[in-house]
Amino acid sequence: MVRLCCSSLSFWALPGNLRLTLRSACAARTLLRSYSQDTTPEKLTIAGIDYPTDSWTNVPQSIISQYGRRLHIEPNHPLSITRQLVESRFPGFKSHNALPGVVTVDQNFDSLGFTPDHPGRSRTDTYYINEGTLLRTHTSAHEVDIFRENSTDGWTLSADVYRRDAVDKSHYPIFHQMEGALTWDRSSFDSPQACLDAIKQSFDKLPRHDLVVEDPNPPFHKERNPLQEKYHSAAEAELVGAHLKRSLEDMVVTIFAAADKALTASGQAVEGEKEPLKVRWVEAFFPHTSPSWEMEVWWRGDWLEVLGCGVIDQPLLIRADQPDRIGWAFGIGLERIAMLLFGIPDIRLFWSKDARFLKQFNESEPIKRFQPFSKHPSAPRDVAFWLPKSSKEAIVAETSSSGTSAPSSAGGQQTEPPRDVKSEPAFHENDLMEIARTIAGDTVEDVRLIDDFTHPKTSRRSLCYRVEYRSLERTLTTEEVNAMHEKVCGEMVEKFGVEIR
Ligand code: PHE
Repeated sequence: MVRLCCSSLSFWALPGNLRLTLRSACAARTLLRSYSQDTTPEKLTIAGIDYPTDSWTNVPQSIISQYGRRLHIEPNHPLSITRQLVESRFPGFKSHNALPGVVTVDQNFDSLGFTPDHPGRSRTDTYYINEGTLLRTHTSAHEVDIFRENSTDGWTLSADVYRRDAVDKSHYPIFHQMEGALTWDRSSFDSPQACLDAIKQSFDKLPRHDLVVEDPNPPFHKERNPLQEKYHSAAEAELVGAHLKRSLEDMVVTIFAAADKALTASGQAVEGEKEPLKVRWVEAFFPHTSPSWEMEVWWRGDWLEVLGCGVIDQPLLIRADQPDRIGWAFGIGLERIAMLLFGIPDIRLFWSKDARFLKQFNESEPIKRFQPFSKHPSAPRDVAFWLPKSSKEAIVAETSSSGTSAPSSAGGQQTEPPRDVKSEPAFHENDLMEIARTIAGDTVEDVRLIDDFTHPKTSRRSLCYRVEYRSLERTLTTEEVNAMHEKVCGEMVEKFGVEIR
């Protein structure tokens, strides 16, 4: 990696007295996360309910204060318009759109079959209210409850979900997902064949499309994407999988046709760039489905990961007292779809209360492209530091530059190796993201690693992150940016014992 010089933007840009304070703070610090032992409040009040805290508590006030905005059901909000468009492709499904975001560890992980060492459980990735309670990280947290309720064969569920994650134009710690599922009750048919026939009939009634679909995958694969042999026949899994894929293909055709129309209406569609819509299916892994896939869509030159899905894990249905049901489930991130439908360039905009943003969307009119109302200058500042000498690991996921990806549908995916979810790494990039967000709120646009270097003689490791400050509403002054950045540097020292360079 190219080593960049950070000095002009970083530590040395700070006044000398502050540099001194920061250096000396290194000496006496404890490893803190969102709260230190003595600043953790005794209870957290979320939507009027008090929750006791403990050593697992890591939800900052900044997140709690945005809890309950329910953007996905706010009239005329682009996320709500997107939700309705997706729901419209699942006629007869019951929509659950008002489930509270505070759930138990059991709902979010155990009930779905997450292993005890799944990285999604760690405090660096998830907001814990206390050891047993958290802010849901995905809408799958409600699957078992809804299956147990057993009120309809098909249902969707849209909600806000929370993840400690990167800061950039397409990641925000709160985003929205829609979960959808369809099951058939095998006990209501005279024979297994009669159930298969019903699934086939339903499949044949699904709308046809002329979409280009790349699907090189077998219906299941012994090692990579197994059939649930104990519970499903090959014919059942194959048919349920085909029904799932066709249903979701129909949904994206509708969405992307609407996006194309909006683009053409705004005069922004570039002829020649207009390639036919393409989707491809990629094998995936989720603890709560098997076989599993992700759908990617080819949109203006990039493969975008749009959703995760699969044949529902039968033990999950058994836990929900529905041993005879068989079916499929999917999870889709609404922001990513809305960004591309409306051409919204920055995920923070969804949270804007600025009329110049909100006035542009109307659910009773055809979709229109968002017209940016301002572009204020970005103020980049670097923070370069030596990691403390520690036997513990540092977790640095090199963040991609902004704008390329959007919140993934797939939190359930095992993307990192298992780790001891109870032990804290010496430094985790998500903790820096949290510090920046807590201090700068929505004026932090992007935080990314620009240098990672290990000294050849001392073996000490140094990292440098670039933090971009930019308000969506106004131009920031140099003084206020410096003040925020000083605080970020100070917290880095205090929380991680890093030595600013
Ligand atoms: N819960 C998964 C996620 O957030 C998405 C998913 C939902 C996958 C349902 C399969 C079935 O990543």
